[in-house]
Amino acid sequence: MAKQKIIFDCDMGIDDSMALGTILGSDCFDLLGVVGTYGNVYTEQGTKNAASLLELTGHSEVPVYNGLDHALTKDDFTVLDVSATIHGKNGFGNVALPETENKISKNGVEFLIQSIKKYGSDLTIVTSGPLTNLAEVLRQDSSLVEKMGPVFSMGGALTVPGNVGGAEANISQDPQAAKEVFAKVKDITMVGLDVTQRVILRRGDVAKWREVNPDLGNKWADAVDSYMDFGDKSCPWVKGTYVHDPSAVICAVHPEWFTTLPLYLNVVTEGAEAGRTVAYTEKLQMTDPNVKVCIAVEGIKVRDFLQNAMCEVLK
Ligand code: BDR
Ligand code: CA
Repeated sequence: MAKQKIIFDCDMGIDDSMALGTILGSDCFDLLGVVGTYGNVYTEQGTKNAASLLELTGHSEVPVYNGLDHALTKDDFTVLDVSATIHGKNGFGNVALPETENKISKNGVEFLIQSIKKYGSDLTIVTSGPLTNLAEVLRQDSSLVEKMGPVFSMGGALTVPGNVGGAEANISQDPQAAKEVFAKVKDITMVGLDVTQRVILRRGDVAKWREVNPDLGNKWADAVDSYMDFGDKSCPWVKGTYVHDPSAVICAVHPEWFTTLPLYLNVVTEGAEAGRTVAYTEKLQMTDPNVKVCIAVEGIKVRDFLQNAMCEVLK
């Protein structure tokens, strides 16, 4: 089967790093580039992490770009204390990653625009951070929606509460961007908390990475263990960690493992509910909604896919 051409747009924290590992370790993807955004970390910290992980896994050829560094409606961005607690100040659980010689290019938005023009519907975009870069792409050239391939986006919560107040973290960073992207993109799948909280990675899975690769495997497992330490305190019933960002990657190759509900999806942009993802009431009778909202998942299949890919990338 031909590999799926993919661009990964991420705010490289710990689960974003596992999503990158999933892309690299499965044989399903041709990774054209990684574009960074702000969220778990500052944009430039995230792309440093991406470049370093690409080098450590033998994939230095994959280009890395800095995308935007704050929400469309704001002038700047500061990492939230809770993000630094969950992902570590460096976005990798405070586990040191070596500096890389790999060049990080500017202008991830331009890279996205040129890639959509070049590859059209053959290009899959997976996002695992705020949707700011993609919203800016479509603000700069709205005609691109006619050319774009599928988008799989980790973010949002339809049937469950959010994880930052009432909203999910990625959407809460830039509700306006999410609203625009959900309204414009013709084929977009929301891989939100409704499903990512049904996919659980266990400490035993992560321990295996240490055996597969005592150097990088230990580093990666230390980072994920620290992520699980936070989960043990905030949601002890999970006994492991939710698999957020890798689920969006896996949905791109195994959509049949996910049950979706087609909706015209709105995002609340103001007030106490800002960032909440909810259907447009006035569009409920309309046919052919554009957003496929994931509401159920075969969680063990998704977890096993992640685990196999991580073990593969660490070999
Ligand atoms: C999302 O928020 C971020 O902290 C994670 O990396 C993930 O993308 C989960 O709500
Ligand atoms: Ca993320």
